[in-house]
Amino acid sequence: RSIGRLVVVSNRVPVPNASGAPAAGGLAVALQAALRSRGGVWFGWSGKSAQDAADRQPQTRSLGPITFAVSDLTRRDIEEYYHGFANRALWPICHYRLDLANISERDAAGYFRVNEFFARRLVKLLRPDDIIWIHDYHMIPLAGFLRELGAANRIGYFHHIPWPSPDTASALPCYDRILESFSAYDVVGFQTVPDADNFRDCLIQSAAGRVGADGVCEAHGRKFLVDAFPISIDPDSFALEARLAERNAVVKRMRVSLEGRAMVIGVDRLDYSKGIKHRLEAFAAFLENNPDAVKARVTMLQITPKSRSEVPEYARIQREVAEEVGHLNGKLGDIDWTPLRYINKPMSQAALAGLYRLARVGLVTPLRDGMNLVAKEYVAAQDPNDPGVLVLSQYAGAAQELKSALIVNPYDIEATAAAIARAVAMPLEERIDRWRDMMSALRGNSIDHWTNKCLQAISGEVEAEGESS
Ligand code: UDP
Ligand code: G6P
Repeated sequence: RSIGRLVVVSNRVPVPNASGAPAAGGLAVALQAALRSRGGVWFGWSGKSAQDAADRQPQTRSLGPITFAVSDLTRRDIEEYYHGFANRALWPICHYRLDLANISERDAAGYFRVNEFFARRLVKLLRPDDIIWIHDYHMIPLAGFLRELGAANRIGYFHHIPWPSPDTASALPCYDRILESFSAYDVVGFQTVPDADNFRDCLIQSAAGRVGADGVCEAHGRKFLVDAFPISIDPDSFALEARLAERNAVVKRMRVSLEGRAMVIGVDRLDYSKGIKHRLEAFAAFLENNPDAVKARVTMLQITPKSRSEVPEYARIQREVAEEVGHLNGKLGDIDWTPLRYINKPMSQAALAGLYRLARVGLVTPLRDGMNLVAKEYVAAQDPNDPGVLVLSQYAGAAQELKSALIVNPYDIEATAAAIARAVAMPLEERIDRWRDMMSALRGNSIDHWTNKCLQAISGEVEAEGESS
């Protein structure tokens, strides 16, 4: 039996534009793959600001199987809902950074107000049998507002970032109201089992809910399923992209400029959750502890598109990372060698795929991350006959699946430096064994698998293979 039309909702909607700028961010990358194959509507923010509330015109555009329906927001909306509550309260607290949280009643009010605005817009586009799939922390209260407006559709939510334990989560402003918002959904999905467990603990401890053995929760008079649905990539098509990218101009330039030196790669939005400063320190310690690596001129490429620059905590990390880069190159570089190449412009997925394949070591060391798709992409991009080594933080959701990576505590600089050294020197046989393990983990849970599992759960039905609506 076919499921209804799919309506995906997220704050960030990568409507293709003339410049074709790549969307940096796991959510956009993963959902593009999901929607391309099955079609549907993608609803959210245009990314632009309107002069005033009356000017927040809806814009609809169909491209192939996807209809994009986006709205502008006013400057005040953006400030309070996006920069404020989403990125200065929810983001740091969900990433266990209470020290960086900014608590403001005005931002909280803006967050709920903008969610109500989106609900009023969205409800006009809905058909009764639509399946609604809402994504990420910007939109937690959306289903509650849709229900108030009479939507009886099946609605699912997926949380792309970590969900912390109750003592940390309870620092969220409007914690009780946020928790209550989840009960308007039919399914609430998290990246990992520990995240889903943390959420259930929050429900139990807040005395608002009960949790059944089958993962079904009951709170505020509604029943909803809470489960882990680890997001992923399409490993085989990423592998193909990486193979083809050997001909990509950026990749060729990189290969020529390396002149046979081993490369270590890092790819992250410029975010304090990514552990970039700690990573650079670890790379510096690796060079300082290994004179042979200096002689061999092992080079690190750090691709780091700027992100959320208007948020003060992001402006600060941008300054700090740039300072650390200058410090490292000044101290360890030579007239004909820059140990760390630091780039702020976003790269296309094709170029990234080829660069990952060139790199002997993938350094993925977030201090906290919901999943981290870069870790999975790095593995998929490797040459099966001569694969590189993934060094992965124990605090990335991906570490629950990629157990054959070199798992590190990203706060431990010396241990991370030692893992880089081990990765650079690892014999081929061990590299192949580890890579095979990780690639088979990826093949067992591809992005299609994730989409099907999520949509089956949300629709409450079993969907036939390859079906689209
Ligand atoms: N990405 C990209 N170009 C860049 C940097 C990143 O396309 O210059 C993509 C990257 O390939 C990955 C996503 O952005 O698919 C980042 O997802 P991840 O889960 O690692 O982190 P997030 O940014 O969602 O926190
Ligand atoms: C992470 C979040 C997404 C977000 C992306 C880029 O992947 O989980 O919700 O879209 O970062 O951040 P931005 O603030 O630019 O949308």
